[in-house]
Amino acid sequence: MKYVFANWKMYLDVPASVELAQTLAAEDLGALSDTTIAVFPTALAFMDVARAIGSTVALGAQNCAWAPAGAYTGAISAHLFKSVGCTYALVGHSERRHIFGETDTAVRKKMEAVLDAGLIPVLCIGETKEEKDTGKREYRLKKQLHTALQDLDAGGKEFLIAYEPVWAIGTGDACNPADADDVHGWIRNELRRYTDRSAPILYGGSVDAGNVAGYMAREMIDGVLVGSASTKSASFLSLIRAI
Ligand code: PGA
Repeated sequence: MKYVFANWKMYLDVPASVELAQTLAAEDLGALSDTTIAVFPTALAFMDVARAIGSTVALGAQNCAWAPAGAYTGAISAHLFKSVGCTYALVGHSERRHIFGETDTAVRKKMEAVLDAGLIPVLCIGETKEEKDTGKREYRLKKQLHTALQDLDAGGKEFLIAYEPVWAIGTGDACNPADADDVHGWIRNELRRYTDRSAPILYGGSVDAGNVAGYMAREMIDGVLVGSASTKSASFLSLIRAI
């Protein structure tokens, strides 16, 4: 199975999210039977997108709270997302970690909350440019994986990893497919410490229609997590056609 996950971030308002969902629904994406496509719209558009998009495209949350319910002003729990047709949830996206100060510990709590709610977490990990340039990439990834997965009672539940180097996100400076493939191989090995399952590993960071085939062709890369190139129908559809 291959994966194309579209993180719409805060790019699209509700009407634009619904319009893009309708465009995707009108395409024969069901014909791509070996590819799971999921979109991660703003929470405000969730129900409208769920109605518009049909059954061949899954829905995911960009973020959720680590608490299940209660007095958490402004927060949305994984259970709430589950109740409106959500299947996946990004956990620890780089923008959550670096802009909103989410710690490895908070990421861990969200992993547990997402699994408890019956959603499939997509654990996002990645190093900064400085960490890469000073030889600390593996140290950073190891730490992120360890805090999120050590003794996690996933009970055989499914989860995915997204390797998203911070320096490649939204910069146009995509990690070249051969390097990404090497890092994915390393991550796959590392995952053996935590699970018997083989978790799919997606690459994210400046993926577009022009480079997606290079990632999809690599043995260790199970799919892509796409940000800005997934937010316009023309670029997203040409990306899907290119795989
Ligand atoms: P990008 O974002 O494709 O715009 O680089 C990827 C992501 O943040 O998931």
